[in-house]
This record gives sequence, C-alpha cells and structure tokens, in this order.
Amino acid sequence: MAVDAPYPELKKTHTMARKGRPWTDYKPPPAAPVWGVIEGLGSYYILLAAIELDVFDTLSSTGPVKVEVLAEELKVSEPHLQSLLDSLVALGMLDQFVNVYELNDTAKRYLTSDGVASMANLISVAPGPHDNWISLAETIRNGSPAKPIDDDPASFYVPLVEGTFTTMLRAATRSDLKIRYSNLTAPIVLDLGAGGAPWSIAVLKACPNGFAVINDFDGVLEVAKRKTQEHEVSDRCEFRSGNFHELEFETDKYDLVVLGHVCRTEGEAGAKSLIERAFTYLKPGGRLLLADYFVDKERKFNPHGVLMGMTMMTSTVKGFPITNEQATGWLREAGFESVRLIEPIGYQYLYVANKPFDLSKEY
Ligand SMILES: C[S@@+](CC[C@H](N)C(=O)[O-])C[C@H]1O[C@@H](n2cnc3c(N)ncnc32)[C@H](O)[C@@H]1O
Repeated sequence: MAVDAPYPELKKTHTMARKGRPWTDYKPPPAAPVWGVIEGLGSYYILLAAIELDVFDTLSSTGPVKVEVLAEELKVSEPHLQSLLDSLVALGMLDQFVNVYELNDTAKRYLTSDGVASMANLISVAPGPHDNWISLAETIRNGSPAKPIDDDPASFYVPLVEGTFTTMLRAATRSDLKIRYSNLTAPIVLDLGAGGAPWSIAVLKACPNGFAVINDFDGVLEVAKRKTQEHEVSDRCEFRSGNFHELEFETDKYDLVVLGHVCRTEGEAGAKSLIERAFTYLKPGGRLLLADYFVDKERKFNPHGVLMGMTMMTSTVKGFPITNEQATGWLREAGFESVRLIEPIGYQYLYVANKPFDLSKEY
C-alpha cells in the first residue's frame, strides 16, 4: 500500500513560483524571475560570508562534517552557520546528507583557495565597489557614478587582477588549443593593461624563446612582476609603467598584442583607439588578442556579457558594454583581417584578428 512521504514536499519545478497559477483560463506568468533577482543580493552575500568565514577551505581540510563540528572549528554560532550551510546547499555550492555537509565539485574547483580554477579571491571584488550598486539609479540619472574607480585605479585593480588571475591564466592557456601561439618560435608580446600578466605568462611558458613587454599602472605592475617571477618567466619580460593611451610602443614589432579586458572601461573612442594602436604596434602577420565580454544582438545569448558591461558602467566614468558588432567593426576599420571569436573556457571570449601582410613589400 502506498504511504505518504513523512515530509511531503512539492517538486521544486512544479511550484506556482515556477509554473505560474495552474487551472485558470488566463495563466499569469510565474514570479520566479522576480524572486530570482530579489534573492540575488542575498545569494551573493551568502557566498561572500562563506568565503570570509573560511567555510570552503575548512571543509576541504575536515572532509564531510556535522554542523556542530564545523561551528566549533570556525568559532561561530551553530544555528546561524546551519542556516548559511543550508543556503549554500540550496544555491548548489555545497552537498548535504541529513546533517552532514561536504564540498561538492563546484566548491572544490572554484571556491577553495587552492582549487584548480579558484575564484575565491574574485568574489568580493568582481562586482566593483558595492556602494556603487546601491546608488545605481543615481548613476543612471547623472550619467556617471559618484565614486568611480578611475579616481584611484591601482587600489581597485590590484585586488581585482589578483582575483581574476587564475581564471585569466586558464583562458589564456586554453586559447592555445584554438590559436596555437605555441607554434611561434620566438614571439614578442605586447600586453597592454596586463594586470598580473596572465596572457604574457601563458605565451612565455608555451614559447621558451618568447619575450614580453608588459604594461600597466605603476602599482599594478608590481603584481605582474610577482606573478611572472612565480611562473619563472620574469627574465624574459620588460615592464613599462604608465597610461596605455599616452605611452608609445614600437611600430611593426610585435607578434601578439594583448588587450585583455581593458576595452570596456575606456569608452567607445578609447576602445577604438586602443585597437588602432594595437594594429600599428603589430608586425605584418601579427595577431591581436582582444579578450572581453561581448554583448550579442538579442542581449540574451550572453547575459554575463550584458551584466559585465553594466558592472563597468556602475563603477567607471566611461565604462560600457561592448557588442560583437562594435568589436568586429572596430577591428575591420583598423585594418585587421581574419577576425574570429573563440571561447577558450566558459564565460571567457576572445577575438583574434590578423594584421595583414603588405603584398607590395618583401619580408
Ligand atoms: C580588468 S584588468 C585586466 C588585466 C589583464 N589584462 C587580464 O586580462 O587579466 C584591466 C587592467 O587594465 C589596467 N589599466 C586600465 N586603464 C589603464 C591605462 N590607462 N593604462 C594602463 N593600464 C590600464 C588596469 O590597471 C588593470 O590592471
């Protein structure tokens, strides 16, 4: 005989929040998208608190554990921790069985500080200064944020580029599978706004005779110096500090010019000018690597790109989302050929474009 479950629960996918009101002639849409947005704020701070309290790293060392043991270990209130852990389970960032909690694969890979694709240091800095989100309506009214990061770029970008480094190094390394920079014998790379220089490091590790000119603001360049040392390529790097709109680099010299996530803060004129400069600095046959989050025509194919554009607008003076049409238009207008878009890892996009050879010249 069939018996009722001890704790009857509706299937998550069958609730009214997700399906809309059942059994009426006119079926109103579900409220789930609105709740999804409202809960976005809480979801973010739940993850942030978990990182701040060291939940993932501690679970990594304890293994599966009951909440009272974890509360003791972390020196926090047990019922409050229970609520936090349950929320992380609901968000798909931990696993739980009865009252035992453990890391799931997502947490192991992205949320522990030594995970192979760790985003642990990125979580607090990725949205930009949190206060700027609170005054977003005001920013839209005025056309500019009250406290843009442009006022003190180094203090914003140092933690940001530390936080994005692992992800960007993975993207840069995986790009080789599609663009084969490792086939170049002794490439010279120009990395503008290099941050921790993930792109230069990936190329130099793949090309033992390669060399890189690495540019960023003074303070941020220190991160690049440290990262290139850690990856044992610093002896093949030259560091040039300063504003990439003002510095001059050698023309017709570089095999690869990297514009890695620098264009979307520069405004249309600034981004276009960076692409034109990159064209000048490349040698004929050289390639531009333009990494950014690009917005598609329907705005829905890559929502991450749309929201990253919004993040820029929220915290910078000139920041804006870049569409695929804009990017490809600027590349072609600058003279680039063979423009193609690759996705080396999820959420990361890269335009690769060639500076053509001048057929009237001998090389
Ligand atoms: C989002 S980070 C990207 C870092 C790195 N290229 C990457 O792909 O991971 C943008 C970098 O551009 C640098 N930057 C922004 N404006 C710059 C300017 N005018 N001159 C030089 N560097 C600049 C910032 O300091 C920061 O390191």
